Amino acid sequence: MYLHGTSRINEQGNLEIGGCDTTELAATYGTPLYVYDEALIRSKCRAYVEAFRDTGFAFQVAYASKAFCTMAMCKLVEEEGLSLDVVSGGELLTALQAGFPTERIHFHGNNKSREEIVMALDAKIGCFVVDNFIELFELDEIARERGEQVSVLLRVTPGVEAHTHEYISTGQVDSKFGFDVQTGQALEAIRYAHESQNLHLLGVHSHIGSQIFEVEGFVIAAKRLIDLLDEAKHAFGFVSTVLNVGGGFGIRYTDSDTPLEAAEYIKAITTAVREEMSKRNIPLPELWIEPGRSIVGDAGTTLYRIGSQKNIPGVRKYVAVDGGMTDNLRPALYQAVYEAAIANKMNETENEVVSIAGKCCESGDMLIWDVKLPQASAGDILAVPSTGAYGYAMSNNYNRIPRPAVVFVKDGEAELVVKRETYADVVSHDLLPKRAQLQR
Ligand code: LLP
Repeated sequence: MYLHGTSRINEQGNLEIGGCDTTELAATYGTPLYVYDEALIRSKCRAYVEAFRDTGFAFQVAYASKAFCTMAMCKLVEEEGLSLDVVSGGELLTALQAGFPTERIHFHGNNKSREEIVMALDAKIGCFVVDNFIELFELDEIARERGEQVSVLLRVTPGVEAHTHEYISTGQVDSKFGFDVQTGQALEAIRYAHESQNLHLLGVHSHIGSQIFEVEGFVIAAKRLIDLLDEAKHAFGFVSTVLNVGGGFGIRYTDSDTPLEAAEYIKAITTAVREEMSKRNIPLPELWIEPGRSIVGDAGTTLYRIGSQKNIPGVRKYVAVDGGMTDNLRPALYQAVYEAAIANKMNETENEVVSIAGKCCESGDMLIWDVKLPQASAGDILAVPSTGAYGYAMSNNYNRIPRPAVVFVKDGEAELVVKRETYADVVSHDLLPKRAQLQR
């Protein structure tokens, strides 16, 4: 198993993260447990900021909180000076309760409700990333009613298809997100927002997909955005002050993933933007990005306790853990592939190929197919790295399984940042129909 950040094998032969023995973490906090390497998250934040500093561009790095949105994470991101992208009232409230500076919050989403819009306006967030005409007109109207001028970016689909799983490609023409460039909708939306008295149009945004390992997609998308801005400038004199090229920078899950350094993406994007802007004689805008996965993905490791096993001679050995698709939906949803190790047997020879099954009542609840591990026994702690993004964020209560706890570890200290759900939490929103009570 690849050792990210501060992960290492300690003197006891156990996996250690942030100076904490993971077997002790499992004993103290229970399993499954999401363990986050705080120093690694901070270093990822800094890598983007430092990469931009060398380019001379004004910039904002907005952490896409959908990847992992908790109050502790919002606080950490705030301390690192990043901005924050939220996509729902729930993510917004998490940020507000963490005391995140509201002017650094950007509100995304393809179907924001009126309540969410008002909540964000009341909080005086930095800007809305408007996704479609209905939202554009509604925001215009609400801003007029409130006598406010609201800052907006327009999300556009530049027609770039990222090389990634089809469910997570969002930049292509046939997408539920954004104003389409090719059909002229994007230009029309720019005209509307530019001419509105109630909206302050900052610029345009695109997000071409997720888990992307090449710079080309970002460069092509940036060029298309600049073509669009050039058109808008000539058609009705709009000069953009912000260009947001979204997130999607890839991370390492297994050996076959080949992520680039943050600086390589930033260098390619800034170089292309500078060239294209100067060709057209448009002033350089502020450049914004929205990394989610690449800030937090590597830094998360899930710890499970191994329970039962089923050996089908000559076919397969199943090793079951006390979590599964409830704490990591990605294998079931995207056929995502992960590595694993036995945290209390890090120095033992990996002499068995097994498949890791979750505990949900569903055959598709498999976390890892065919992983090489030392001989596993009940009670061992299985560590699955690179689960920091879209793991806890997409966790669920299938089979009424409570969500795990989350701890941040750093310099030998662990801090609980999300409490483990209890069975009582899981049933706490249920109500028995009055009918049923009467029949008793
Ligand atoms: N900005 C926008 C507008 C986005 O839609 C997304 C992700 C991001 C930024 C952050 O992308 P990242 O840097 O994390 O790749 N649940 C899927 C990923 C869905 C991504 C959706 N949008 C997964 O588990 O792979």
